[in-house]
Amino acid sequence: MKGIITAGGAGTRLNPVTLALSKQLVPVYDKPMIYYPLATLMEAGVRDILIISTPLDLPQYERLLGDGSDYGLSLHYAVQQAPQGIAQAFHIGREFLAGGPASLILGDNVFYAHHLPAQTQEAARRNDGATIFGYKVRDPERYGVMEFDAAGNVISLEEKPENPKSHYAVVGLYFYDHRVTDIAAELRPSARGEYEITDVNKAYLEMNRLRAETLDGVDWLDTGTHESLLEASNFIRAIEQRRGMKVACLEGIAYQSGWITADDLVRRATQLGKTDYAAYLRRLAEGTK
Ligand code: TTP
Repeated sequence: MKGIITAGGAGTRLNPVTLALSKQLVPVYDKPMIYYPLATLMEAGVRDILIISTPLDLPQYERLLGDGSDYGLSLHYAVQQAPQGIAQAFHIGREFLAGGPASLILGDNVFYAHHLPAQTQEAARRNDGATIFGYKVRDPERYGVMEFDAAGNVISLEEKPENPKSHYAVVGLYFYDHRVTDIAAELRPSARGEYEITDVNKAYLEMNRLRAETLDGVDWLDTGTHESLLEASNFIRAIEQRRGMKVACLEGIAYQSGWITADDLVRRATQLGKTDYAAYLRRLAEGTK
């Protein structure tokens, strides 16, 4: 399965930080935000990935991540001329996907959980229909909300409802079968002028092919405001310090997946100079971590 990361958007809530810097390049503790969604795709077993951003910001992502070989990945880049909605990713990614299944993650979605990879690997293996994930929140009226039955079938999907039918917000991680490109091609812009990912999910719902899973015991960290971004950084820092490990260490995931070698890790550590991150890579290569 191939993957897409949306790293465009306006990021207006983080101004002035994002006046001259793409939101998904802003650090969450010790690494750029985009490392986290990239790690989530890698842990789902997705290695062929398209990164979409604005004409101005895209070159920065290419500079940061290159062709992906440092992480055992094949990375591709494409421009979104204007932020006309998340589902536009499937218009832009049409050739890249070549009629195959796709996973999509929003570039500002940070997840942390031990068992998430098992859940996402299974979703990536299903080749009929779509899988979305719900996360229990206190204030569902701020999100897309899903209602579902005990078997995991979605019953309804509503965008920022006044009277939410559940407390489960739909998170920014989606797995779709081969139908997704054609479904997205049929979309019309919504009242706010965007190609809505909720409309893609609704199309699967109408075909009775939308599966819902809950992310229990997973932390889904908001990075959209200055307050939540600082909280996310503190959260990652606390975990890394307590456990002596790095969250969303791309080279580490690649090494543990057998996609790169210990020598690759050491080479990368040399590039990164005298940093904690480099020291961590060396310990991984020596097998002392
Ligand atoms: P949003 O939360 O819709 O918007 P935003 O991140 O630009 O922020 P703000 O509300 O502060 O203005 O976007 C969700 C994610 O999807 C985010 O990573 C940006 C990305 N995105 C695109 O890449 N292209 C788009 O057209 C849209 C709407 C979002």
